[in-house]
Amino acid sequence: MLTTTEQIAPTLAAAGGMRVAGWGTAVPRRRVTNHDLARYLDTSDEWIVERSGIRERRWAGPGESTGPLSLAAARQALAQAGIEPSDLDAVVVATTTPETPMPATAAQVAAALGTTAGAFDINAACAGFVYGLVTAAGLTAAGVSRTTLVVGADTMSSIVDADERSTAVLFGDGAGAVVLAGGPVEPVGGGPTGVGSPIVAGPAGPTGRGLQGGGPAGAAAPGLVACDLVGDPAGVDLLVVPAGGSGRPASAETVAAGDHHLRMDGREVFRRAVRGVEASIGRTLARAGCTADDVALFVPHQANTRIVDAVLARTGLAPERTWSNIDRFGNTSAASIPIALAEAVDAGTVADGDLVLMSGFGAGITVGTVLWRWCASAPFAKDQ
Ligand code: ACO
Repeated sequence: MLTTTEQIAPTLAAAGGMRVAGWGTAVPRRRVTNHDLARYLDTSDEWIVERSGIRERRWAGPGESTGPLSLAAARQALAQAGIEPSDLDAVVVATTTPETPMPATAAQVAAALGTTAGAFDINAACAGFVYGLVTAAGLTAAGVSRTTLVVGADTMSSIVDADERSTAVLFGDGAGAVVLAGGPVEPVGGGPTGVGSPIVAGPAGPTGRGLQGGGPAGAAAPGLVACDLVGDPAGVDLLVVPAGGSGRPASAETVAAGDHHLRMDGREVFRRAVRGVEASIGRTLARAGCTADDVALFVPHQANTRIVDAVLARTGLAPERTWSNIDRFGNTSAASIPIALAEAVDAGTVADGDLVLMSGFGAGITVGTVLWRWCASAPFAKDQ
């Protein structure tokens, strides 16, 4: 099987790599606590915290659906990057709850920003943001896009049955965005797990540290180091919204049956998520020639604290270098990794040169992992 890492990482490195020029987040105003849910559902704060780690989540009100949330996160990321919308070459929105079936949410965000950038959505459920990062890296490596906005956004409250306790307690709404700027990127100092190595433009050296080269002793380009996008087809029916698509268009009958709501076999998703994410992380680190100790920051999909704990135990990734905000936001699907990433970066957990590992899983079952060499500080040089 062709691995994207073999194609993208060296080409991207040769093109000078990629930095995360800006990031932003947006969540709805309304905070829904476990106690709020326990007032009308047969559930309790204790059950939800023990089984999932969630204490509260945000649910969208009017004007806070996937489009507006995406736009707010995107504007923040662009402002931080100091990049004008007109400088964007591509707008990618990862979502499983688009603003409308047509046009794409990305097209609506691009229109609101006032950019003519190519715009399209990705649906890889909760793994969507990782798929978006890999897509952006691929577009840059291919010379198609130099400056790409990647948004992960979902309004899970729009597909969850608020009266169904087994799913209502788990999901929340939100958006996270990054602006990715392709190289050449100026040399910058490395961070603790960089491992003190400088990031330099140009192809990485043959240091025996993986397909892209680089690693502790050598120079490495910022951006995608290795990735792993896989499916678990046996789990395709475990997490579904049965109606509302072309196979079963919405009708009075589908609505009456509640078939526009999310249905999930939580226990089986749990089991497959742990195994799938563990294996995907293993393959990604192996492709990079890295170990769990090289990872400065791990940003897992925030679905369930017990899933994350199981993955940490199986992979050897350090809990103290793992970001978690599931207690405050629940599972925000494609938004969960970019929101957690933004929080972790704002908290000062990474320096330029550090390796950031992100891994998600979702309906499909899709699994996606990316190892990213962090660089945020180099100036954007669009005319180079
Ligand atoms: N409050 C109280 N009791 C509940 C609740 C609730 N909210 N929900 C279910 N229960 C009950 C069940 O009915 C069951 O009762 P029973 O034993 O009498 O039959 C009991 O609690 C145990 O239910 P399980 O489903 O076995 O509980 P489990 O420990 O597996 O936890 C959970 C359930 C939290 C859903 C877990 O399985 C999980 O997190 N799975 C992964 C789900 C996930 O990550 N999905 C997102 C994928 S990403 C995407 O694409 C959107």
